[in-house]
Amino acid sequence: MPTAEVCAAAARIVDDVVTRGRSLDAVAARHLSKLPLRRHSEARAIAWGTVRWLYRYRPLLHRYLRQPLRRRDGSLEALLLCALYQYHHLDEPDYAVTTGSVEAATRLGRPRARGLINAVLRSHLRDSRAALTSDEETCYATPAWLIKRLRHAWPGHWQQVLESANQHPPMTLRVNVARTDRDSYLRRLAVADIPAQPSNLSPWGVLLERAMPVTKLPGFAEGEVSVQDAAAQVTPFFSGQLAGCRVLDACAAPGGKCSQLLELEPTITSLTALDRPGRVYTIRENLLRLGLNCNVTGGDALVPGNWWDGQAFDLIVLDAPCSGTGVMRRHPDIRVHRRHSDIANYANKQEQLLEALWPLLTPGGRLLYITCSVLPEENDGPLHNLVSRQADARPELVTTAEGLATDLGCQFLPGPYHDGLYYARIRKD
Ligand SMILES: C[S@@+](CC[C@H](N)C(=O)[O-])C[C@H]1O[C@@H](n2cnc3c(N)ncnc32)[C@H](O)[C@@H]1O
Repeated sequence: MPTAEVCAAAARIVDDVVTRGRSLDAVAARHLSKLPLRRHSEARAIAWGTVRWLYRYRPLLHRYLRQPLRRRDGSLEALLLCALYQYHHLDEPDYAVTTGSVEAATRLGRPRARGLINAVLRSHLRDSRAALTSDEETCYATPAWLIKRLRHAWPGHWQQVLESANQHPPMTLRVNVARTDRDSYLRRLAVADIPAQPSNLSPWGVLLERAMPVTKLPGFAEGEVSVQDAAAQVTPFFSGQLAGCRVLDACAAPGGKCSQLLELEPTITSLTALDRPGRVYTIRENLLRLGLNCNVTGGDALVPGNWWDGQAFDLIVLDAPCSGTGVMRRHPDIRVHRRHSDIANYANKQEQLLEALWPLLTPGGRLLYITCSVLPEENDGPLHNLVSRQADARPELVTTAEGLATDLGCQFLPGPYHDGLYYARIRKD
């Protein structure tokens, strides 16, 4: 049963995301910390689901409001949206959702709005549940501009991409082969009564049947496994040879890809894991838990003069900042925060990063470009520009059976067992 404190906490999270443009992960951590631990998963499910389905239920809510709510009423709108999400998606009795929501208004410091909350929710319940409009924005709970871009980019797959954004993501582990192997770890999970299966995409991947706190995973604290999506685990297929190489991971935090390379290839000559100074602690934490070591550096990849020692790299991994359109189900607020114009801004930044890092590569060296976007403007696009400007840049097509070959790379589209990621490799002549 959703209590008033759970409804209020969920509404505060949604309000911060929708009205103030904050990150769902960041605000959830703050608001959940004020709830008893046993209530976290309930509030989290309501907040995550409400943000995921915002584009569906906001237009519906507006039908029951006599006049639009004011900007300062963001918490009330969020409370109503959370209630609509619960009526339509959770197995809670309607009366309990209504009562919890009405009482939550007091907890949000708006006791006089209890009548409004009650009236709006009851008029919705009196109305047909089938009152949703059938436009695509409502149907896929995704802004129209993004649907248009996806349809244009993937005429045969855009619906799959949108549908997957509304599913719950699988929890996938990467086995640390420096400490154990996948079969042994699967056996440990079976003994602990944790249902799991090997990933078909990654030979190091284990798909859990149900998500769970990492603290309950056998050997997690000892560094036997990391949480990492299966499509993010295929970096070694695309990187080519690692032994004896000087490697730069230019956008490394929190260290998922660089730690995998270190687990697999202890004979990497050196690996520099670079990220913004405020983020490098996340890399250090992960390396420490996994028992790995490398040169962790805080700095701006766009300004190598500030951190580079002048020795060229054999392999540069650029897992670039991007729109995140391949991981929308993990981060439902992406659809709320992104704007049409952001895509060109990301592409611009990606081109700048590629241009800034290209001179750091030794002749014969490889640049591995990765994003978690499914938009060609951020994937093949910036690479086409690099190849046309740099006479010594030569694309090397690397594909796998599961990925779709693009002009210059390989696109994994999000599906039931993995996220949407793009990989491409460019060699320097
Ligand atoms: C997609 S994430 C990297 C994920 C990481 N490779 C992993 O597998 O765990 C992109 C990263 O780029 C970093 N970043 C963005 N702009 C940067 C810049 N100019 N210099 C260095 N890092 C940057 C961000 O801080 C963020 O950590």
